[in-house]
Amino acid sequence: TLSNVKLIGIPKMHDERGFLAVIEKNTIPFAIKRVYYLYDVPSDSYRGGHAHKEQHSVIIALSGSFEVLVDDGKTKKRIMLNKPNLGLLIPTQIWREIDNFSSGAVCLVLASTEYNEAEYIRDYDDFKNQCLG
Ligand code: TYD
Repeated sequence: TLSNVKLIGIPKMHDERGFLAVIEKNTIPFAIKRVYYLYDVPSDSYRGGHAHKEQHSVIIALSGSFEVLVDDGKTKKRIMLNKPNLGLLIPTQIWREIDNFSSGAVCLVLASTEYNEAEYIRDYDDFKNQCLG
């Protein structure tokens, strides 16, 4: 459910040279198997539009901003991400859509699984049915 969608603070170091943020073993609640990122996303385009049967994700706005819609089949919520030291934890069985990318936005995704199209739910009606079932 949406109560398992959480913002995670990423520890950061700061000195006169700037910030350094670190993600290590205990920062996020799963072992990272894959990292991917979205960039040069047109401001009117929309990403995501799927849920996962197995994959847990953490989404970070490494640069710029965008909005993430999360939906557990009952409740929807929009979260604006614009801080490189905040990660949005999205567990399995949560529908997500990402839009309103600012210019220069970089959306980093830490994933708990290797890429496997078979564990995607890309049809919203299928998603709704699996939530009810
Ligand atoms: P897609 O799932 O549409 O991206 P998003 O969730 O950001 O909207 O993926 C775009 C293409 O990239 C699609 O053909 C699947 C492929 N892809 C990989 O090959 N490996 C990956 O790790 C990911 C995330 C996607």
